[in-house]
Amino acid sequence: MCGIVGYVGKQQAAPILLQGLSKLEYRGYDSAGVAVFDGDGIVVEKCKGRLKTLCDKLDDGNSLKGTLGIGHTRWATHGEPSDINSHPHMSDKGRIAVVHNGIIENYLKIKEYLIQKGYVFVSETDTEVIAHLADYYYSGDILDTVIKVINKLEGSYALGIICKDNPDEFIAVRKDSPLIIGLSEDGNFAASDIPAVLPYTRRIYLLEDKEIVRVRRDEVVVCNTDREVVQKEVFEVDWNVDAAEKGGYEHFMFKEIMEQPRALRDTVNPRIRDGKIVLDGISIKGKDVENIDNIYIVACGSAYHVGVVGKYIIEKLSRIHVEVDLASEFRYRTPLITDKTLLIVISQSGETADTIAALREGKRRGARVLSVVNVVGSTIARESDDLIYTWAGPEIAVATTKAYSTQLSVMYLLAGYFAQEKGLVSGEQTAEYIRILQKLPSLAEKVLENKEDIQYFASLHYNSKDVFFIGRGVDYAVSLEGSLKLKEISYIHSEAYAAGELKHGTISLIEEGTLVVALATQEALFDKMISNIKEVKARGAVVLALAVEGNTAIEQVADSVIYLPKCEDLIAPSLAVLPLQLFAYYISVIRACDVDKPRNLAKSVTVE
Ligand code: AGP
Repeated sequence: MCGIVGYVGKQQAAPILLQGLSKLEYRGYDSAGVAVFDGDGIVVEKCKGRLKTLCDKLDDGNSLKGTLGIGHTRWATHGEPSDINSHPHMSDKGRIAVVHNGIIENYLKIKEYLIQKGYVFVSETDTEVIAHLADYYYSGDILDTVIKVINKLEGSYALGIICKDNPDEFIAVRKDSPLIIGLSEDGNFAASDIPAVLPYTRRIYLLEDKEIVRVRRDEVVVCNTDREVVQKEVFEVDWNVDAAEKGGYEHFMFKEIMEQPRALRDTVNPRIRDGKIVLDGISIKGKDVENIDNIYIVACGSAYHVGVVGKYIIEKLSRIHVEVDLASEFRYRTPLITDKTLLIVISQSGETADTIAALREGKRRGARVLSVVNVVGSTIARESDDLIYTWAGPEIAVATTKAYSTQLSVMYLLAGYFAQEKGLVSGEQTAEYIRILQKLPSLAEKVLENKEDIQYFASLHYNSKDVFFIGRGVDYAVSLEGSLKLKEISYIHSEAYAAGELKHGTISLIEEGTLVVALATQEALFDKMISNIKEVKARGAVVLALAVEGNTAIEQVADSVIYLPKCEDLIAPSLAVLPLQLFAYYISVIRACDVDKPRNLAKSVTVE
């Protein structure tokens, strides 16, 4: 959950490292640091706080001279955010500096061993053991040293390592944490994610676990732990640097909310051909689909919420039993997997540690794995049997919006595809379904046009202490996401409840003035929702309802109503989530919270 970057080349390293870190700050932002070889030795500058603090301290990098360096932006796991615990970490005598993303699980054992050998530790981090262990094994050959070090490490890591004796190269290596290599005429890079190198190059190497890279100014050599050279293919990034910039918007989150119609088009349209749903990345067809008797969807956070909607629609359309699991739970239970089980893994980053572990557990038990991933070439993408990319483009705000929406659209595609392949629907029904799906982007545009209404509701409710989101069926699934959005970026306590479940306990929390956001987009459940709204109104709640245009009866029970354009029940979740995202966004802005980088969070959760 940290970001690392490395550079060696013709330019001054520090400004490039800081610029690269600014693109990785979404991965962690409680402290930052750089290490640069200045001609005599390694100079480390690091401090607690946002990257800006470090940039101010270093005059945006201009005060540090040297063309080789590594940098880090941190999300604390071992040891509180502090100057000392910030990366890079140095070995005794200042020979080796290390930046690390991941967790070293056996660090205590290594630490004890090194203390016995006379090493002195200054931080509480797990990472510091890597620096000292490298010093302990150092033989004059840094590549050999790094191989010895990683052979001792248990856990996950992406590492950038520089050694005082090698002023023209750094070493990069990964295991279970993301790392890419950027290649350019003026120098070469390593980084946790592509946006960090995109201002300089589009040519990258995607690394496999335990590939070790010697990065020099005019040469990059990748080898395995036996020092055999590995030939890598260059991956050309085809999206623009602007895609990862704010482009005039005040916040990434707002920009990404507004990009959703485009992202939906890009994800859905290429998968519709000749009146059919065509999923190129998956090889399960016809009989294979008929053969599936059980689907597990595993994911974390918002991606899990997508899975909850997915369960409703896949079961409804394709008549296959679906279970949805939090990846962190799935990995430690004993799911009933057979050769007829399909595991659907959903992840924006493709690097979420629990989701990767769940994928591997599912595979180990014999499931076929189909992943829905946004980041091309990520671990989950590479380890899956079948793959569907969401074409949301880079998502920078910690709170997901366009990734959620595109993942949801893939659930619709999959549900329709399974029904089509099982022969459950006629050509006409498929055509009608496709027509409904292709309407989604323009309906989403309509919803977003009404953003000022949502801004107004946010201005009425930004001071709420507790907010409850209620809904039935897929509306309940969307409530989960609405509630998560609100709490993660505005720090208001909120809960999502299946509307019929509220009276089994939680209704005791409703008191005079409590805000209840009631989703009532499902025609068949509309009257039930009216009753549930009355129940909370009777206890003093203020109700903000979400309904589909024309269902004006809701005005008699709710205090205010947000209307969605007329749409089929099935796709209402894709539209209903949009006002909830905007509601959370505007409240966060009014409360002067850090919208894109909420406290204690990081975009990509690469630790367990
Ligand atoms: C939601 O806004 C969060 N950022 C979080 O819940 C996220 O969806 C979760 O961590 C899963 O991430 P992934 O999609 O990258 O696997």
